[in-house]
Parts: sequence; structure tokens; C-alpha cells
Amino acid sequence: MITAARLLLAALLAVAAAASRDLLDEDGVSAAISGGFTPEQNRYRWMTSLRYSTGPYKGEPLCGAVLIAPTVMLTAASCTLPQWGMPRAATLFPWARIGVNTRRGGEYEIRFITGVLLHAGWNRTTNPALNDIALLRLGGGKIPSVPSLMTPIRLPPKKPNPLVPLGTQLSALGFGDWGKPNVPIFIQQAKLALQPQSACRKEWPQFGKVWTTNKSLCAGTKGQAPGICSGDYGGPLFRAGRTVAQDMLLGIGAFNGRGCGKGGLSGFTNVAQYRGWIDFGVKILENEVPANALYKAYYNQNVPTPL
Ligand SMILES: *[C@@H]1O[C@H](CO)[C@@H](O)[C@H](O)[C@H]1NC(C)=O
Ligand SMILES: *[C@@H]1O[C@H](CO)[C@@H](O)[C@H](O)[C@H]1NC(C)=O
Repeated sequence: MITAARLLLAALLAVAAAASRDLLDEDGVSAAISGGFTPEQNRYRWMTSLRYSTGPYKGEPLCGAVLIAPTVMLTAASCTLPQWGMPRAATLFPWARIGVNTRRGGEYEIRFITGVLLHAGWNRTTNPALNDIALLRLGGGKIPSVPSLMTPIRLPPKKPNPLVPLGTQLSALGFGDWGKPNVPIFIQQAKLALQPQSACRKEWPQFGKVWTTNKSLCAGTKGQAPGICSGDYGGPLFRAGRTVAQDMLLGIGAFNGRGCGKGGLSGFTNVAQYRGWIDFGVKILENEVPANALYKAYYNQNVPTPL
């Protein structure tokens, strides 16, 4: 039931979320992937919906994430930003609903996050788009890692870059930002064409180094739906295979065009460029070897026992 207090809270928190997480969008028109479609049920079960784990938004959608190993997920570092008035753990150690395809209910695995690695080179003040990548370990209680039963998505090889020719139709998935009107119930898939770096560089010249070093992928069509929106960050840009085993991850949703619901160009952290960082990061989380200077590590002992 929606109460006046809850609406007020939602409005306040939407402002807080906009201030802390969304530097470029938020016109409040529509909050999910725009111009997308509902994919076949249970097709993308490596897809994960991250939820606030505590605070007033507890249980509500925060971001997307992608299962890349039985106990490790990939998301955007910006998804873990502290949000105003909330306990730090709300976004740093979110809950994961793996394989979910609806915003409410549905069938999914629930996992808690027991370890987080942020890219140490990510700094939202100096360049929020550079190195916007994070790894999350799935676990619960005293058990540091509890594997998912879903099939992880394949990671791209380091080369060639980009892996597919410009113009290739790729897909994005997301749930959007729950605090907004007109958010679809079911997960949305959008087809986005891969664009040259120069197209996004024109839109976001301030991200400079991101474009000269190919650290992001640019996808979508300027001025046209579909596109991603806040709440879809951390979700995948991928090449859909004929079967789930053939799906391949290319990017992680990181920033989007001028106004949600209007489509346009979107930026994705270029996963291929971070293969070394990811592969070693998975080892750190799986084997609990010490993190080096490329990682900012956070561990959480204070989680409930898994279901
Ligand atoms: C981000 O960069 C600014 C400017 O160089 C620096 O003052 C700040 O400490 C950095 N933040 C983090 C979290 O490293
Ligand atoms: C970026 O990618 C393009 C191909 O799209 C390539 O020609 C260029 O050398 C790459 N630059 C770097 C710094 O990797």
C-alpha cells in the first residue's frame, strides 16, 4: 500500500539518489530502459537485480549486476556510492536477486554480499566514467561464499577491441529506477547499436581519457529510443547468443544520455579492457588472497545466514 509518508520518502530519496548517483540524467520522465521489450521468461538467468540491503529503501531495486563466476558478480562501482541518509551497507553490501525477471516477486536466488572490490582508479569527482567497475562476492552468514546455481555469462577476450564491428546490434537489460512513474514490472531488454568512441566523446568530452583509451563502449542512437536509465547501471551490454551458453558480456552500464526515457547514447564500462583486473579480482574473492593497489576491498561479516 502506498501511503503519503512513503510517497514523501520516495520523493526525498529520489532527490538524494539523483544527487549521489546520477550526474547526467534524471528528468523523471520514465525510469527504466525505454523502447525495450520483455524478453522470453527465464532466458537471462545470469542477470541480477541488486537491492538496497538496509535503510528506508530496503528490498527495492538499486542497480543491475551480472553473474560471471559461481560466487562472483560484476557491477558498476557507481552503484555502491553512499546515498544520503542511508547506512553505508545499504549500497556497499546490497542483496542480490539472481535470475529474477520481475521487479516484484518471481523466482530467483537470493544472496548476500560478503566481499566487494572497487577499482581503485575509480574516482567520481575527477572522472566518474573511468574505471566504473566493481566485483561482488556472494555469500551469507559465516559462510563467505555460497555459489549460485545459475550459469554465469561468458567474459569477452581482451582482443580484438571492440570485439564486434561498429553498428552491431547488442542488448542491454535492466529494471530501471523503482522510485519513478511508469516503470515496467518485467525486466526490459533493449537493442543498442555499437557506436564509435567519437560519438560518445562528442556528448561527454569531460570524460576525456575514457575515450582516448577505449575504456568505455558507446551504444545506442542519438535522439532515439531505446536507451538505458539510472537503475539500469551495473547491468549488461551483451551479445545475445542462440543459447545462454553463447551469450557474451561486453559492457557494464555506467552512464546514459540526456534524460531517461529518451533513449540516446549510453556508456558502458568496456569489460574486455578490464579482463586482467577482473580475473585477478575473482581470485582475490574466491581464495581470499590479499588485494593489491588496483583494488579497494571491503568485507562484510555481518550478514544473515543464507536461505
Ligand atoms: C578523487 O580525486 C580527488 C582529486 O584528485 C581527491 O582529492 C580525492 O581524494 C579522490 N577521491 C578518492 C576517493 O580517491
Ligand atoms: C581504440 O580502439 C580503436 C579501434 O576501435 C583502435 O584503433 C585504437 O588503437 C584503440 N586505442 C587504444 C589506446 O587502445
